[in-house]
Amino acid sequence: MVSRKALVPAAFVACLLPLAWLGGRYLRDDLGANPISELENRLGFYALSMLLLSLACTPAQLVFKWKWPLLLRKLFGDYAFFYACLHLSTYVGIDQFFDWREIGKDVVKRKFITVGMATWVLLLPLAVTSTQGWQKRLGFRKWKRLHRLTYVAGVTALVHFIWRFKTLNTQTSIYASILVLLLTVRIVFWLRRRKEPNRK
Ligand code: HEM
Repeated sequence: MVSRKALVPAAFVACLLPLAWLGGRYLRDDLGANPISELENRLGFYALSMLLLSLACTPAQLVFKWKWPLLLRKLFGDYAFFYACLHLSTYVGIDQFFDWREIGKDVVKRKFITVGMATWVLLLPLAVTSTQGWQKRLGFRKWKRLHRLTYVAGVTALVHFIWRFKTLNTQTSIYASILVLLLTVRIVFWLRRRKEPNRK
C-alpha cells in the first residue's frame, strides 16, 4: 500500500506512463496506419481521462469519506490540461502544419472542433488558478465557484468525444455514464446540504 506521503509523487509518475507508452510506440514506429491521428486521439483520450479522474476526487471523498482523493485532485486537473495542450499542439503543429487559415476554418465550421477548442479555453483559467496562491488571491468562495467550471469542461470534452464518432459507442457511453454518475453525486450532496437546518 502506498503511504499518504508517497501518494502524490507515485500518482505524478503514474500519470506520465501513458505518455511514455505512446512515446515508445512512436519510437518503434508502431502507431498504426495513421500515426498522426493515433497520436492525436490518444492524447485527447488521456486529457479526458485525467479530467474525469480529477472530477471523481470530490465525489469519492463525499461517498466513501476518504480524504486521500482530495490530495490528487489538483494533480489530475493539471495533467488534464497538460495532455490537452499536447493534444492541441499535435493538431496545430503536426496535423495542420500551423496553417492558421485552415485551423480557423475548422474551428468555425466543424462543431466537433469548436467544442474541443471551447473545452481547452475553459481549462486554461482553471490550470492557471489551480495554485494555493491564486486560491488566496481570489478568496476561497470565488475560487471554488470558478473551479465548478471543471464540470462544464467535463461535459464539453465528452460532447467533443461523442461528436468525433458522430454517435454513442461503448467507450463514449461508459465515459458519459461516469460523468452523469459524478454529477449526480455532487447534486445529491448539494441538495442534502441545502436541507441541513443550521446551514450557514
Ligand atoms: C484545443 C482544442 C482541441 C482541438 C482542436 C481538438 C481536436 C481533435 C481532433 C482533430 C481529434 C480527432 C482526431 C482524429 O479523428 O484523427 C480529437 C479527438 C479527441 N479529442 Fe480533441 N481537440 C481539442 C481539445 C480537446 C480537449 C480539451 C479534450 C479533453 C479534455 C479533447 C479530447 C479528445 C478526445 C477524447 C478525442 C477522441 C479520442 C479517441 O478517439 O480515443 N480534445 N480532438
